[in-house]
Amino acid sequence: MTPPINPPWIAVEDYRQGAGWVNLEECEGRSLRCCELLERGKILLFREPPFDLPDEDRKFLLVQEWTELRLHKNVSYRPSEDVLKGVSGSPQTIARLRSIFRNYSAAVIDFMGKFLRPYAGKCTVDFSSFRPFEEERRGLPLHKRNDLLHVDAFPSRPTHGGRILRVFTNLNPTRARVWNTTEPFEALARRYASDAGLERIARESWVRRRVEDWAGKLGWRGMGRSPYDIFMLGFHDYLKENTDFQKGCPKIRLEFPPLATWLVLTDGVAHAVMSGQYALEQTFLVPPQALVEPDQAPYRILEKLAGQPLVC
Ligand SMILES: [Fe+2]
Repeated sequence: MTPPINPPWIAVEDYRQGAGWVNLEECEGRSLRCCELLERGKILLFREPPFDLPDEDRKFLLVQEWTELRLHKNVSYRPSEDVLKGVSGSPQTIARLRSIFRNYSAAVIDFMGKFLRPYAGKCTVDFSSFRPFEEERRGLPLHKRNDLLHVDAFPSRPTHGGRILRVFTNLNPTRARVWNTTEPFEALARRYASDAGLERIARESWVRRRVEDWAGKLGWRGMGRSPYDIFMLGFHDYLKENTDFQKGCPKIRLEFPPLATWLVLTDGVAHAVMSGQYALEQTFLVPPQALVEPDQAPYRILEKLAGQPLVC
């Protein structure tokens, strides 16, 4: 019999937008505890955004004709380059959207520095995104489907063992965003990593590592992956392709209410988006040296199973 899964989310009641940590004397300890919980696979939930998110910006995002503007799976924004992708529209609309994303991203970065102090100044700020389309019955190709349980891995941004930390906000004013999640990463890895090719990838890693290193130095996009990154990309696809896993694994349904904000390390927490429309999201990459519970990191769990290093 499958053992029960502990509820994966924890509501944060002592940090608020504007005020920050309610009890300043305890904030260092609370901040460290929140990093530990995230790295152990918990989801941290705020009932309202813990950063500034102006009403007029939210409303502007909700009233756009996104079917006309759509060019990609989501709208994405690269804070480091101030580049917006996945939309078309009038120059005024694009300028307004870029300004909304710029402010949103800056607000989340500021929040993260105060809320997760052990990571402050150590994370890479990755892309932010807006997901304006209804997820239920969306009809995407299998590997792009959000409604199949998976762990995240980015083809173009290898992490070399770093963790993928995502901050989501449900902008939908009336409907929850519904996720399924399942057992912890270690349980999934013990059951499926071998079948997903862990040992083969570890065996081939010596030759592959040198080829990839050279490719990375030459600046070829998506190259410079560690064996860990190669495995995780494959594991993302493996889990989505595995019908027995998708049908038979234990599931926990999570309903994120309107305006809820949640933080989760999506490389370690398998997730599927079952329904919902209008989510805003900012991603950070937390390098291995910034982790407070490194033994909980997927790369360390996989290295133990493989019996050799997977990160250069
Ligand atoms: Fe995902």
